[in-house]
Amino acid sequence: MEIISDKFRLRPLRKEDMANKVRWYNNPEVNRTLLLDEQLELEKTLEWFDKHKDDKSRREFAVESKDGRPIGITGLIHIDLVHKTAECFCVIGEKEWWGKGIGTEVHRVLVDWGFRELGLDKVWADIKAENTAIIRVIEKLGFKVEGTLRQERLIAGRRIDIVRIGLLKEEFYAIHPELALTDPVEIKDNRRRND
Ligand SMILES: CC(C)(COP(=O)(O)OP(=O)(O)OC[C@H]1O[C@@H](n2cnc3c(N)ncnc32)[C@H](O)[C@@H]1OP(=O)(O)O)[C@@H](O)C(=O)NCCC(=O)NCCS
Repeated sequence: MEIISDKFRLRPLRKEDMANKVRWYNNPEVNRTLLLDEQLELEKTLEWFDKHKDDKSRREFAVESKDGRPIGITGLIHIDLVHKTAECFCVIGEKEWWGKGIGTEVHRVLVDWGFRELGLDKVWADIKAENTAIIRVIEKLGFKVEGTLRQERLIAGRRIDIVRIGLLKEEFYAIHPELALTDPVEIKDNRRRND
């Protein structure tokens, strides 16, 4: 499965992407935005990939720039087909690609895919309250703050507030009616999918 947009391509995550994942997640400027209290190690991350590669509750993708360079990771995890929910995440690891609209568009195509192809009714995420960039991204897509878990984590010696955000299918398509009208298999509007 791949999703191609004007700005990037999403393709399934591969084992050889793990070296980039480790490098990106360990970059202090990225790491401070994540709900992680440790540095990643390549060997453990490769083991983690093998363990989870067939896990049906996760669908993860590499984000590639138009010229084919991996620039980040995104996906839906904790996919629950009983309750029709999943958690979304996106890490653009190459900082020179921040602020170009990619994070917003990745979330848009990812949640659209989750609602239409996986049949989800709700997408959610837990984010650091201080992560202003992701808060701006998710506001634009219609996510709502559902609550704050005060001082929920101890990361790098600091207690961190976590914000639970959620997006209902009907809220998303109320904001993006043009997507609801497109064919669910062939996404128009400069996007196409190949399963
Ligand atoms: C958060 C992230 C995905 C956003 O992606 P991006 O491609 O930089 O975002 P966009 O270019 O689509 O920008 C979206 C909005 O955020 C704003 N923004 C971007 N960086 C910002 C920052 N550091 N502070 C405040 N606002 C910021 C942009 O101005 C834009 O708002 P606008 O449309 O009103 O101008 C990206 O910065 C990233 O991967 N960061 C590290 C990992 C992370 O925080 N992931 C999310 C938690 S898992």
